[in-house]
Amino acid sequence: MSRPAETLTAVPETEQPATGAGLIIGARRDAPAAAQEVLVLDYGGQYSQLIARRVRDCGVFSELLPHHTPLSEIEARKPRGIVLSGGPASVYADGAPPLDRGLLELGVPVMGICYGMQLLVRELGGRVEEAEVGEFGRSDLHVAGDGGRLLAGLPAEQTCWMSHRDTVFEPPPGFTALASSTASPVAAVEDTARGIYGIQFHPEVVHTPYGEEVLIRFLTEICGCDRSWSAASIVEEQVRRIREQVGEGNVICGLSGGVDSSVAALLVHRAIGDQLTCVFVDHGLMRKEEGEQVVSTFRDTFKVPLVAVDAEERFLEKLKGLTDPEAKRKAIGAEFIRVFEEEATKLAEADPAHPGADAARFLVQGTLYSDVIESGGGTGAATIKSHHNVGGLPDDLQFDLVEPLRALFKDEVRAVGAELGLPERLVWRQPFPGPGLAIRVVGGEATKERLDVLREADHILQDEIRRAGLYRELWQSFCVLPDVRTVGVQGDERTYGYVVVVRAVTSDDAMTADWARLPYDLLETIASRMINELREVNRVVLDITSKPPGTIEWE
Ligand code: XMP
Repeated sequence: MSRPAETLTAVPETEQPATGAGLIIGARRDAPAAAQEVLVLDYGGQYSQLIARRVRDCGVFSELLPHHTPLSEIEARKPRGIVLSGGPASVYADGAPPLDRGLLELGVPVMGICYGMQLLVRELGGRVEEAEVGEFGRSDLHVAGDGGRLLAGLPAEQTCWMSHRDTVFEPPPGFTALASSTASPVAAVEDTARGIYGIQFHPEVVHTPYGEEVLIRFLTEICGCDRSWSAASIVEEQVRRIREQVGEGNVICGLSGGVDSSVAALLVHRAIGDQLTCVFVDHGLMRKEEGEQVVSTFRDTFKVPLVAVDAEERFLEKLKGLTDPEAKRKAIGAEFIRVFEEEATKLAEADPAHPGADAARFLVQGTLYSDVIESGGGTGAATIKSHHNVGGLPDDLQFDLVEPLRALFKDEVRAVGAELGLPERLVWRQPFPGPGLAIRVVGGEATKERLDVLREADHILQDEIRRAGLYRELWQSFCVLPDVRTVGVQGDERTYGYVVVVRAVTSDDAMTADWARLPYDLLETIASRMINELREVNRVVLDITSKPPGTIEWE
């Protein structure tokens, strides 16, 4: 769900290293790296990923695995606890995802949420039936007695978020019913002797005010976790793993200036220092001054060995005559790989210690946990960002991948970036497509002239949005330049100029997005600056389409 755009609030930005304020993951930042993990088994619920995130917010490492993950794999990870997620199916439906009874024999606590609870209750001999009315949305929860082990200390009356039709009417033998709700006679159960727990409501959503307390009770009192997982512990752990993986080997990293590749590069540099060389290919399709910022941050501030390639002309040449967005993407992707390959070969030749083409045996990728989950992973399949990342597919280059962010969500990557001292401007940089401004010149060729107009317009937009303190509030804000000119009048002259489209959206994950309600006065300042400062522009329009039905980019 995207955030309501009306709630934009200004946050001032600085050039200082990001402090990580508000980003601290877990309760104790100074704690040592902990191997404690609680696994979430995904039964297909819309909140499954959120459960893992909330567990991490509570300071315990958590990963989401498909519900059919083999027991041996689960056991090998030695989890401190297992959560069974919700899911869309009825436990009585044909093909409903089943419970592997072996999970209950692993000797670690298991907690089912929603479908997960119904599955446990039904499997262990309780009564689950389809109720006449479902229970969707906010509901009143009544905690019985002292709340048992799971709900101890929580208010007897509270609200919670429900989303189910199958309902538990009787707990299984040996279980205690801990709570009921408006439409659920049994809304929470436990069998402390066997370490099995169930809750019908969703503790992971913000509409369950005591949800975090319930999770914390499960994680600490029941699973015995100490909540020591944090950005600091991620850095420590990853540095150790990178050293282990790479040894004395040489590593190459394609740096784009986006937060993922920046944080990945810094982590690897922290681990192995100058064994890392970053390659920054400036394809001339970046935002204004972005290339210089990347170079000065990495080369000058962090002293990371960096090869910066000015390849603007090569890319413009390849873009000649192309109007179709997919053709532009392909041309840019192919050229990127060519440039990257050339640089990798040069590095190999220049390295007397490791002559030959395989001097750099390792390639850093900023793969995130969301990419792993989206590719149906979580089971260790190597995922290379391709569609959305120009630097993603050096297919014929034989590299082993180093993916230090593979287990992290985006906000955790930002926290790690802050921990490593990355400047706030980079930590909070809005996502930017790999093919850059080329796919924002729409309906026509991305010529140098059009790219420059677009870059300048974009710069004005970013400048004003930052000045208004709204940059962080927006998922993305950018301009689009359609290949269209319209009539205008400036001074006494008729003009025939470009239309600039302003696009600003709020979103949590780019899957859905809402158009941002930028203040009218701000929009006016933006439009008048663009028209006054950019001779080629005589009209500015605002895109008020959400996603769906629109997409974020125009292409
Ligand atoms: P759409 O436009 O599909 O975009 O709503 C979702 C997110 O993906 C980004 N995007 C791209 N990123 N190469 C990229 O690296 C691309 O070709 C590309 N197309 C879209 C977009 O900016 C948004 O964050």
